[in-house]
Amino acid sequence: MNQPIPMIIDTDPGIDDAMAILYALSDPAVDLVGLTTVFGNVPVTTATRNTLALLELAGVDIPVAAGAARPMVQEPHPHPDFVHGVEGFGEAHLPPPARKTDPRPAHEFIIDMVRARPGEITLVPVGPLTNIAMALKAAPDIAEKVARVVVMGGAVRCKGNVNEYAEANIWQDPHAAQAVLSADWPLTLVGLDITERIVCTAADLAPMMQRSPICGAFLTKAAEFYFAFHKETEGIDGCHLHDPTAVIAALDMAPFGVETAPLTVTLEGEAIGRTREGERGAPVGICLSADADAVLARFRDRLASGRLP
Ligand code: RIB
Ligand code: CA
Repeated sequence: MNQPIPMIIDTDPGIDDAMAILYALSDPAVDLVGLTTVFGNVPVTTATRNTLALLELAGVDIPVAAGAARPMVQEPHPHPDFVHGVEGFGEAHLPPPARKTDPRPAHEFIIDMVRARPGEITLVPVGPLTNIAMALKAAPDIAEKVARVVVMGGAVRCKGNVNEYAEANIWQDPHAAQAVLSADWPLTLVGLDITERIVCTAADLAPMMQRSPICGAFLTKAAEFYFAFHKETEGIDGCHLHDPTAVIAALDMAPFGVETAPLTVTLEGEAIGRTREGERGAPVGICLSADADAVLARFRDRLASGRLP
């Protein structure tokens, strides 16, 4: 087997973030070297507490660095309590974590880790891109030192999920997104163009309960709230597999069809946060098709592997 991929997930947990983190801990192809937290689905204090608590539930001790509490330029938008719940995990609640965060702010943690292991670290941001933009601004050299950047965000040839134009992670900090998506580094965009075609159901989570009853019970309970949101807004029995799909794309691009183009983020007006193919700028690998069954099978099988308690 190939060497596990050293990965930092930048996250705003969030229920699908929790799915992505537990998936990453279940897949032996991942070497999760750190997590950084950001505002988005919940305030960053809640995102940080949730990340620490989730790692304790899974029985793993991985560095967590707390990050940005607000966007780089615009005023913050309200947190989507109606999507992930006020505390971020729906009606599932975890005990307060005992561990503390890394003393460095998220963007410094990212810079240090990437500089210490040039060419090795894959960044997987699955929330607003504020920490990543701050890291790039403070240390432009990381652009040629990362292995890859695989972003969950954007809606390039489809409608957004916040409004007809914008996807939530980009909409929450469009200025950060513009900086990250236009930088000259190996970036893959995992946007709604494919994540809204991959639907995780309760049946996909059920096998986890047998082999990992503690984490399985938590994730099943948390997913109920997310499923209810999807039922109410989209009429589907399940949820879109947004964040886990970005982690899977960071491991294996075989299930994905990619087109390469520069991307531009709209920074004003009613379309603010829209991601459009442009004529100028660094090329981005835009995922525009996916073998949904293959992605879901990998997600389901690794979660049912029994690697988690
Ligand atoms: O639009 C989906 C994205 O926004 C996901 O990352 C979800 O967790 C929210 O952050
Ligand atoms: Ca997220």
